[in-house]
Amino acid sequence: MTADSNNERSGNSSEPCEGPCDGEGYPSIFRDDRAQVQRRTLAKGVVTVGGIASALSLAAPLSALRDVDVLDPAYTGPVYEENIHLVDADGERIHEEDLEYGDVITVFPEPRPDIRDAPTLLVRHPEAEYADETALEHTVSGYAAFSKICPHMACMVSQVDGNILVCPCHIGEFDPLEGAAVVGGPPPRPLPQLPITLSAEGYLIATGDFLAPVGVL
Ligand code: FES
Repeated sequence: MTADSNNERSGNSSEPCEGPCDGEGYPSIFRDDRAQVQRRTLAKGVVTVGGIASALSLAAPLSALRDVDVLDPAYTGPVYEENIHLVDADGERIHEEDLEYGDVITVFPEPRPDIRDAPTLLVRHPEAEYADETALEHTVSGYAAFSKICPHMACMVSQVDGNILVCPCHIGEFDPLEGAAVVGGPPPRPLPQLPITLSAEGYLIATGDFLAPVGVL
């Protein structure tokens, strides 16, 4: 790991927190500047994706998500469903040709009644690089999608170090080529995968909801 990549991880509790903070040095988990998708060209291709926010489990404590405006307070259903398009922070649908290998972006379910947004990481790698831990039947054209909500303490997984997805709060690390398995830090389980495919027009769509509960169990 390079010095630059360490510096990029401003959420490390030993370093000053840039942007919204929780008073203890961590990026605030109650803020999400999701419209400001940023790309930084630092050593090892470190990229910062989206912002920092909080959202607890979608499986049970839906009320926690209401605090961050992810779901309508009355909503109890799935976040994604079959044929729901994945869209970027500007609401634009993602076409098969939009990402290159190695890219990572934050996407959301296309808005519909009661669903405002739900942050999801979309990665693209050559299909042959994925290991069996990734549910390959739920990837398409090298694309795989995972929840952006860290299962440790619900920060956003907002940075990357090479291919590794990094949660800046406690340096949780996930390998998207191995089903977003935990490869560093305290998270207790992988990032849940979202099953995706391509529409007839070549846009990324979900084929169902996340394959595991999202957030902190
Ligand atoms: S909240 Fe992500 S590593 Fe702790």
